[in-house]
Amino acid sequence: MTDRLRVLVTRRWPEAVECALGERFDVVLNDTDQPLSQSELAAAMAEFDALAPTVSDRIDADVIAGGDRVKLIANYGVGFDHIDLAAAKARGIAVSNTPGVLTDATADLALTLILMAARRAGEGERELRSGNWTGWRPTHLIGSALKDKVLGVVGFGRIGQATAERAHHGFGMKIAYFARRESEAAKALDAEFLPDLNDLLSKSDFVSLHVPGGGDTANLIDAQALATMKTGSYLINTARGGVVDHDALADALRSGHLAGAGLDVYPQEPQVPDALLGLENVVLLPHLGSANAETREAMGMRALANIEAFAAGADLPDPVA
Ligand code: DGY
Repeated sequence: MTDRLRVLVTRRWPEAVECALGERFDVVLNDTDQPLSQSELAAAMAEFDALAPTVSDRIDADVIAGGDRVKLIANYGVGFDHIDLAAAKARGIAVSNTPGVLTDATADLALTLILMAARRAGEGERELRSGNWTGWRPTHLIGSALKDKVLGVVGFGRIGQATAERAHHGFGMKIAYFARRESEAAKALDAEFLPDLNDLLSKSDFVSLHVPGGGDTANLIDAQALATMKTGSYLINTARGGVVDHDALADALRSGHLAGAGLDVYPQEPQVPDALLGLENVVLLPHLGSANAETREAMGMRALANIEAFAAGADLPDPVA
């Protein structure tokens, strides 16, 4: 294989990465920076050697069946539930992602949401900007302290652990976690391992989700799980929207069973469930988990490293299939 691989980059990437890619490969950029249609993605399967998509592209079985030329899908991002791995495997297409480089940024955003929800920052900003702030008073927009509160971390991989570290060392929170197995890293946080999700939900003041999206975790936090959460607790989601039943979440927020929520991800982005838009006690961010300059460049460089390895016929640094 030559190093002039034909690569389709489906969205604009940070300039430094686009330049580095362009020096090595025959790269086509999507100058519109709008999502390509399913038929454009399918057509690309016959025209390129490698596809470099993002979470905003649905690389399903129909897209993958669009042609036989693409042999690498180098995802720009760590989550890959938008790619049909079985269909890719059946056609001999390798898939890579960009793990590690967005851990800190995503954990920072989880803490942003915890703080915003706990301290009612969104509500306060909306009140002030709409001219409705009448001045300081002892009972105005009272939120919750974090110190000594229990943060229940669902999924204790890199991002879950980094979130727990910030919450514990930075804000004095107690940590409990739900995962498939006990973690060595948890010891330094004095964190309690709770292998039963219901135990974690019923003991936590804040629940932060850090599991991958996809079939195994679809609606993991459904009406029953929400009912199991403590009255007055908070739900934080920087993972994937499909992990939460948003109608049930809206009900739990409306009834006051949950004091608040902080969300960065939604099942059908960029649509945000109507049921949530009218509620004051939910912070809604537009999928900003990895959105800082350093991280977005590092993600691109990581995707580039996978494309380079593929071009050289070497093992991919970050294979997911
Ligand atoms: C990720 O990397 O999975 C982020 O959510 C952006 O796709």
